[in-house]
Amino acid sequence: MKPFDVYPLQKITPVKATGTRLLDDKGVEYLDFYGGHAVISVGHSHPVYVEAIQKQLDNLGFYSNSVLNPLQIELAERLGIISGYPDYQLFLVNSGSEAVENALRLASFHTGRKKVVTFHGAFHGRTSGSLAVTDNRKYRSAFNVDHEVAFVPLNDREAVTSQLEARDVAAVLIEGIQGMAGVVEPSDDFLQFLETECAKHGTMLVLDEVQSGFGRTGKFFAHQHAAIRPQLITMGKGMGNGFPVGGVMIHPDIRPEMGMLGATFGGNHLACTAVLSVLKAMIAENMMQQAEITGAYAKSKLASLQGLKEVRGRGLMLGIEFAFPVKQLRKLLLDEGILTGNSSNPNVLRILPPLCITIDEVDMLIEKLEVVLNKITMDILENSPPWRG
Ligand SMILES: Cc1ncc(COP(=O)(O)O)c(C=O)c1O
Repeated sequence: MKPFDVYPLQKITPVKATGTRLLDDKGVEYLDFYGGHAVISVGHSHPVYVEAIQKQLDNLGFYSNSVLNPLQIELAERLGIISGYPDYQLFLVNSGSEAVENALRLASFHTGRKKVVTFHGAFHGRTSGSLAVTDNRKYRSAFNVDHEVAFVPLNDREAVTSQLEARDVAAVLIEGIQGMAGVVEPSDDFLQFLETECAKHGTMLVLDEVQSGFGRTGKFFAHQHAAIRPQLITMGKGMGNGFPVGGVMIHPDIRPEMGMLGATFGGNHLACTAVLSVLKAMIAENMMQQAEITGAYAKSKLASLQGLKEVRGRGLMLGIEFAFPVKQLRKLLLDEGILTGNSSNPNVLRILPPLCITIDEVDMLIEKLEVVLNKITMDILENSPPWRG
């Protein structure tokens, strides 16, 4: 048997990683500006994280949700305080897609409605429901198409209102910042408008913070820049710094019933320990504030690059849009020892480093980008000089 071949791969084989650095099987070091799809938050093999998991594994790695688990209670309490949602409830799963799936189920249970409104460019995962609210037909099989979903343009108030007026919409679902679309932001006033409009029509506002959450943008959740309070918030990726874990934060008005939701692995002892250690390291090392400062520095430096169209995003969730496809640029950056991400917009380079990335390391990225952009310009001039017409 061999792996099911569904991923376009960067041709390196990492075997070890520390902080912001990856080492491959040939001993070559890479600076990680992608964090494995925004997953590495407090840094590869962070000592607090490694020690906590090792210790927990020595005691109890797993037991299911059929027994008392004080770690879940401790995590809910800490996460509530650190995120600014102490009165909310926490449901733990194993991935971002599952978090979205369960948030939409809760919105549907609570409102008794079925329809979901979401946005052009949205990516919410690959389970059946999360795929149905993902704006990419290519990913959807016939099995996924029977959900009642409306896609409307981002930041378009009238389009949202016209969907909500019939009062049959269970949830408006929006990413804190759209990641897969190429780092596209809802405006703060649009998020505030959604909060008011959803309340008016009895619709739940669901914020997908799977990619933009857990400190990445300088606040715990990206939507907190707009000072709104959604009914449901989904989390994943940076939450476990590589340990597969996701979660939903649930407004206190949404009441639980036995059997409503469930997951065999969700909230197990190792997962809770991983998330608790992420929170501990993040707070001890001021990583949220660092993400804001380093991200603002990166954004201002990147703005002067040649061939650049736009730099978007907040904190350490940045999209660099060029006037040309970035495929070759990414490959050349990799040759220079820099890992970056792509997006569904072929012209956008996605930057999602661990939150502990430093200003010096950002300078290294800029330096390498300049080298690579010069190479690309030279290539263009040599192969199709403008004076040739
Ligand atoms: C905003 C958002 N939601 C949900 C998901 C799905 O998360 P997972 O791949 O962990 O299921 C992703 C993954 O990229 C995402 O970016």
